[in-house]
Amino acid sequence: MARTLTFKIFRYNPYDSDSTPFLQDYKVEETQRMNLFAALNYIRDELDPTLMFDFVCRAGICGSCGMMINGRPTLACRTLTADLPEVIELLPLPYFKMLGDLSVDTGVWFRQMEENVESWIHTQKEFDPAAEEERMDNELANKIYESERCIECGCCIAGCATANVNADFLGAAGLYRVGRFMMDPRDERDEEQWFELVSTDEGVFGCIGMMACGDVCPKDLPLLEIMAYVRRKMSAAAMTK
Ligand code: SF4
Ligand code: SF4
Ligand code: FES
Repeated sequence: MARTLTFKIFRYNPYDSDSTPFLQDYKVEETQRMNLFAALNYIRDELDPTLMFDFVCRAGICGSCGMMINGRPTLACRTLTADLPEVIELLPLPYFKMLGDLSVDTGVWFRQMEENVESWIHTQKEFDPAAEEERMDNELANKIYESERCIECGCCIAGCATANVNADFLGAAGLYRVGRFMMDPRDERDEEQWFELVSTDEGVFGCIGMMACGDVCPKDLPLLEIMAYVRRKMSAAAMTK
């Protein structure tokens, strides 16, 4: 039998000095295979055109629809209402810059993180556009490819206890990024340079290892494996100091 869903949605406009945060209720008749993208669009089209939320791809690719769904950070476009109870509470991802209601700006945080870990290949080699592409071991190439699959949705940061108390913590997404360049043979940074960059409480030693990030990552990335790799490398570097 079709259910009547009650959405309790966080409302707040940080740009309006009269606005105060509250939860607003909306009733929606559930339809077959309804996901939260459809439900939120129904609310905005039919009930409340002022509701703010983000979607771009609707396919779990762009990372823009992360939100707290009944307390869990995840992608709204990949969440079926059938998998949720009749009362659904939606809050914006904590920690990121609030734009309004369910909309946050993850880009500011990710941009800063990419700059902090200098997220590009560091090499002294001159680029020669006429040269043949350098060969790379297939297994390693696949590992690097895998570590490029992060969609920067911010769910791992929102679910991370350390990130929520330490604004400069790199979080799983940042440490994953570090691992990607650490394993790339084209990146000439040595252990000393990596150590300077990530062997701090804001880096790998701030992680308490409870793996909430791995539980909530919607792309099922091997966060545990890569973060353990980074930690091992940095622990080994610390021993030689
Ligand atoms: S293991 Fe825990 S502390 Fe470390 S990045 Fe993941 S959620 Fe944060
Ligand atoms: S590591 Fe996973 S949860 Fe974190 S930002 Fe990337 S895709 Fe999202
Ligand atoms: S809308 Fe792109 S990941 Fe959900």
